[in-house]
Amino acid sequence: GAPVTVDISAIEAGQKVTFAWRSLPVFVVNRTKDQLAQLPGLEPRLLDPKSTDPDQQPKYAQNEVRSLKPEWLVVIGLCTHLGCVPDFVPDIKPEPFDANWKGGFYCPCHKSRYDLAGRVFSGVPAPKNLPVPPYHFVDDTHIQIG
Ligand code: FES
Repeated sequence: GAPVTVDISAIEAGQKVTFAWRSLPVFVVNRTKDQLAQLPGLEPRLLDPKSTDPDQQPKYAQNEVRSLKPEWLVVIGLCTHLGCVPDFVPDIKPEPFDANWKGGFYCPCHKSRYDLAGRVFSGVPAPKNLPVPPYHFVDDTHIQIG
């Protein structure tokens, strides 16, 4: 599939926009400082918080925030269990599933949960983090995916 260039200039802090690449939904999230600050503390609850699997993220996104620029998360928006599209739920705690969940992505099909870096929580059906596709910044407001 061909790369696509997307305009991220209208995505406000805390918002997610879904783009299409190779017929796949790609989530782009403009994470706030508060959202970024919560990520390190979640690690004990995650299945694979520091993934080094090259199929999970390119080398340049193999870091604590899984991205090139901390605020911008770019992940393929398909649950790694059976491929449903997870909901973006950045700020809620959907009890009783997990009282300590800070929000992120929630799969309505079988209740898998991911944090705001697309990292899967332990104890849910999804076996892997949401993959980060290849991408780069064309300029401050445009990302090329693919
Ligand atoms: Fe997402 Fe099953 S498809 S939890």
